[in-house]
Amino acid sequence: MEKITSLAKRRGFVFQSSEIYGGQNGAWDYGPLGIELKNRIAGMWWKEMTRLHDNIAGLDAAILMHPRTWEASGHVENFTDPLVDCKKCKSRFRADMIPEENLSAKKCPDCGGELTDTRKFNLMFKSHIGPAEDTANTIYLRPETAQGIYVNYKNIIQSNRMKIPFGIAQIGKAFRNEIVTKNFIFRTCEFEQMEMQYFVKPGTDEEWFDKWRRQRWAYYEKLGVKMDHFRWHQHGADELAHYAKDAYDIQYLFPMGWRELEGVHNRTNYDLNRHSEFSGKDMQYIDQDNNNERYIPFIIETSAGLNRNVLMILCDAYDEEQVAEKGNDDDWRTVLRFHPDLAPVTAAILPLMKKDGLAEMAQNIRKELQDDYAVDYDQAGAIGRRYRRQDEAGTPFCITVDYQSKEDGTVTLRFRDSMEQVRVPRAELAARLRQEIKAYKRVK
Ligand code: GAP
Repeated sequence: MEKITSLAKRRGFVFQSSEIYGGQNGAWDYGPLGIELKNRIAGMWWKEMTRLHDNIAGLDAAILMHPRTWEASGHVENFTDPLVDCKKCKSRFRADMIPEENLSAKKCPDCGGELTDTRKFNLMFKSHIGPAEDTANTIYLRPETAQGIYVNYKNIIQSNRMKIPFGIAQIGKAFRNEIVTKNFIFRTCEFEQMEMQYFVKPGTDEEWFDKWRRQRWAYYEKLGVKMDHFRWHQHGADELAHYAKDAYDIQYLFPMGWRELEGVHNRTNYDLNRHSEFSGKDMQYIDQDNNNERYIPFIIETSAGLNRNVLMILCDAYDEEQVAEKGNDDDWRTVLRFHPDLAPVTAAILPLMKKDGLAEMAQNIRKELQDDYAVDYDQAGAIGRRYRRQDEAGTPFCITVDYQSKEDGTVTLRFRDSMEQVRVPRAELAARLRQEIKAYKRVK
């Protein structure tokens, strides 16, 4: 993880938030390569969920919601972590994350000091809206995006004439006052979720739950990641969230071990029932194709962390490879083996020399490709070093313009993974890239 964190900073994927002030715990900033990667992952998920399904609609609900939302959802009452504090060193721990023997002996795992009793700590960030700081003006930063979907479900049925079964997809920020925020961007206080809520007829929920589990697994297969680093974990009765009847996590083998990447939950009709009760509004679905049968739909939720997906993709892509045996640092290269659809830069255009018209030709190629591809231009330093820089950024293709290019109009196309080079006529570059991206298969 240290290597990935350091590469992420060096190459402008992720920076510590407010670094000049010593950093802000649980918050990270995405640099030029990081925002491209994050946007591509989000774009891939959005396409999968909305464009590839004619019965899933998109939504972007506000972060700030009416505070009754969180009473109805159960978060005010139940969204808590068990906490203990050390009376001596003042460290704070999640009770479920320290060894059982420390907890039962009330002994601090860091300094051996006495621990307080376990108490419940609500993870929602609370603030006030408007000028007066009284309880009437309490507002929460949403701890999950899902509730914005539930409160809009009837609006979407009406505006888009949706019929059950149908889904609503949303990508957006969520906030949790997490106590343990180590492991880089894995668990943070501010993060983004990619959530899809699928509304189904009661009684068909288990069948849809299984279908969505299969679809989410197939999605990760499409990303070209190492599937032997993926597994399912079914929640035991003590792990289930207050709203869930059944839940499975897709876990990924991160450097610190198997951890949750995404959850698939059968949330029953809990949320809609509660919103109906708390708002006084009828949340029933009227099935016009079935004698106007009325019912509160069950909800199957797929909930993935966008930032956690960024971390997964970085970990999965990271590789160190020996490429020579000269006995120096250059024998090894660091390479990010991103799928070309996810790579922040698809192709880098590199003139062998700045002079003799090579830079002009390379700039023209950049202009020809930039409409269709994310391209980078780099003319600084030895060509070998420039290739290494692009390998570290995960750029799948490098296009080198050399003296032969001036003579016969061909350029060198270099492949990141194999480091092979072929000559391609300049006029065929765009089509060749398209073909290579489509045919891409992860080999290492
Ligand atoms: N709406 C359901 C829900 O929020 P969750 O299991 O609490 O369920 C879903 O969260 C996903 O959101 C997780 O699988 C994880 O990827 C991401 N996530 C949750 N808390 C996070 C945090 N503190 N930092 C980063 N990602 C987080």
